[in-house]
Amino acid sequence: MTHTTTGTTTPTSHPTTGLLAGKVAFVSGAGRGIGAAAARLFAREGARVLLTARTETQLKAVTEEIRASGGTAEYVPCDLAEPASVHAAVDRTVELFGRLDVAFNNAAAMQPPGPMDELPDSDFDHVLAVNLKGPWLAMKAQIAAIRATSRTGAIVNTSSVGSLMANPALPVYGAAKRALNSLTASAAATYGPEGIRVNAIAPGTTLTEMIDAWETNTPGIVDRLNALTPLGRPADPEEVAQAAAWLLSDRASYVTGTVLRVDGGMRA
Ligand SMILES: NC(=O)c1ccc[n+]([C@@H]2O[C@H](COP(=O)([O-])OP(=O)(O)OC[C@H]3O[C@@H](n4cnc5c(N)ncnc54)[C@H](OP(=O)(O)O)[C@@H]3O)[C@@H](O)[C@H]2O)c1
Repeated sequence: MTHTTTGTTTPTSHPTTGLLAGKVAFVSGAGRGIGAAAARLFAREGARVLLTARTETQLKAVTEEIRASGGTAEYVPCDLAEPASVHAAVDRTVELFGRLDVAFNNAAAMQPPGPMDELPDSDFDHVLAVNLKGPWLAMKAQIAAIRATSRTGAIVNTSSVGSLMANPALPVYGAAKRALNSLTASAAATYGPEGIRVNAIAPGTTLTEMIDAWETNTPGIVDRLNALTPLGRPADPEEVAQAAAWLLSDRASYVTGTVLRVDGGMRA
């Protein structure tokens, strides 16, 4: 038996009452950082979760942790720079769980910090392939999977506060994220009429390996970013994951096409 709320069909037989109860969620970059926090949170909120990234040991560890806490999770290694692997990961989600309701396209590659004239073109190509074409490929596969199974759903792409300003130290990263905001808006406009919402989150400084790598390259950068942040501190990855969970949930049923800053007020 099913009931329909604001256009989304949810099985009433599911035992949990969490924010994402009854949903099947795809999470990229789920081996560590924001994506791992999201996979854990989505499972606690009642979703069955498919975790992807390249590093199998990290995926396995997070998946086993979720299972040990009573959640349902599977993982599929996937390289966003490889189109066939992105399609295979989304297809595998449907094979394993029978449907796809929500997707968090969160994985991204960092660029070596520095001015644009010093960055090899190969880094430009890699960052664009992973951070822009990756979500492009993923969204196309996810839209098809949602249409074919649950019919309505939601997608959240992880952008960055860096998409909203000049990035002298991370120019390609910032450009890819700004382009991702555009893709997000276009997808929202295209698929809104059929009940598929598409949003982005723009995290500020968040304590993950990505920011650790920047700090190692540029000592003091986290303190400088904190000084630009009204809340005066970096985010814990779960604080960012909470925003994604809400946007993916039916509680955000009238929210689409937005870029939600989760930045401690940095761009206020
Ligand atoms: N941390 C911050 O301060 C911050 C701020 C703004 C935005 N963000 C964004 O937040 C998201 C998550 O970043 P994070 O901070 O959690 O970084 P992270 O700890 O470095 O995690 C990045 C994740 O993406 C995966 N990934 C990287 N390249 C990939 C590829 N080619 N194919 C598939 N997966 C790949 C990584 O796994 P593998 O290496 O195993 O593939 C990892 O699971 C990113 O979109 C990032 O741009 C972060």
